[in-house]
Amino acid sequence: MPDDLERMWADLLPIGRTAGGGYRRQPWTGAETEMREWFGEQARARGLRLVGDGVGNTVAWWDAGAGPGVLSGSHLDSVVDGGAYDGPLGVVSALAALDRLRAEGFEPVRPLGVGFFVEEEGSRFGRACLGSRLATGSLAWSEARGLRDDDGVRLGDLVPGLEADRSRVLGGVAAFVELHVEQGRGLVHLDAPVGLASGIWPHGRWRLRFTGRADHAGSTRMEDRADPMLTFASTALAADEQARLHGARATVGRVAAAPGVTNAIPGSVTAWLDARAGSADVLDALVGAVLAQAEGRAARDGTRVEVEAESVSGPVTFDAGLAGLLADGRPLLASQAGHDAGVLAAAGIPTAMLLVRNPSGVSHAPEESAEAEDCRHGVAALTETLRRLAGPGWQP
Ligand code: GLV
Ligand code: MN
Ligand code: MN
Repeated sequence: MPDDLERMWADLLPIGRTAGGGYRRQPWTGAETEMREWFGEQARARGLRLVGDGVGNTVAWWDAGAGPGVLSGSHLDSVVDGGAYDGPLGVVSALAALDRLRAEGFEPVRPLGVGFFVEEEGSRFGRACLGSRLATGSLAWSEARGLRDDDGVRLGDLVPGLEADRSRVLGGVAAFVELHVEQGRGLVHLDAPVGLASGIWPHGRWRLRFTGRADHAGSTRMEDRADPMLTFASTALAADEQARLHGARATVGRVAAAPGVTNAIPGSVTAWLDARAGSADVLDALVGAVLAQAEGRAARDGTRVEVEAESVSGPVTFDAGLAGLLADGRPLLASQAGHDAGVLAAAGIPTAMLLVRNPSGVSHAPEESAEAEDCRHGVAALTETLRRLAGPGWQP
């Protein structure tokens, strides 16, 4: 990695690291607060002007030139036991790019910002890209304030909220560029260190609650049971089958049985379905088929299924003009992972994404990685991108 990037990376590496080598940087916890404080220190050390909103979305502005500015960044939170790169690589790369532009005496014609959005992963309050959705107004604070985490903590009791300053971090943003570690092996197969995202697959999260009848594991005859675990298990298999049939993706990565007793049939099982597809029609068909199979199985099991869509994102195609400007012969890849860049693009902000090769392709797990040399290419690509967008040759 370049020295400056390496130094920043070394600062962040211990924060929220678990004994297993993964990261727990859940929003508004000690580790994530430390990450955000680190960002504030970096901004102050560079003399950047810090702007934050009532949920913690933050931008550090280099107040150069005039008019609306160019923003780059990503997020600092992680999934539970995630990797080091998903999010932070984009933030440290943006700071490193800004350092390079300054070191070479570049004079921007418009402001240049580095920022991050909170709760991108939705690992605490269940809504993916919570911070950027609130910042763009695609999710209302009146709806978000009542969200509760697993311990029952209400979001509205944790942060002041966005009533008065909803667009504070995005007012005056003419374009957004997010650099991100690739979350697959596309660039490995293409033998390229850096690529461009063409767009993001539509995707969403659905909370499924299966209810049955709690009873004794020994004395309840098999034919007398209403076991929601069976309805859940059959639904998880249906998700796998339907995703394969539709050429799409479906995952049940989180499940909780209540009361969670070894020697009792559970009274209820709550599970979260994550589904993604190349088009909204295919996604609808996939989720519809899984839910139909769940209902069919519930009728056999004597159980019930309730479904709540927690967050659903439509397809995103990134700005063609920006993609052309950034192309430089780089390969274009569709992203099956969601990003704040997708939320900003959907809100009408011209947006682009640079992806950095990930040798294993693993993400949302401790093995997520990127080679130092590829990170160097990523910073160089981002530096060049910001030079173009903050230079006189590009007009918002
Ligand atoms: C975010 O990384 C997501 O795609 O879930
Ligand atoms: Mn992620
Ligand atoms: Mn991410």
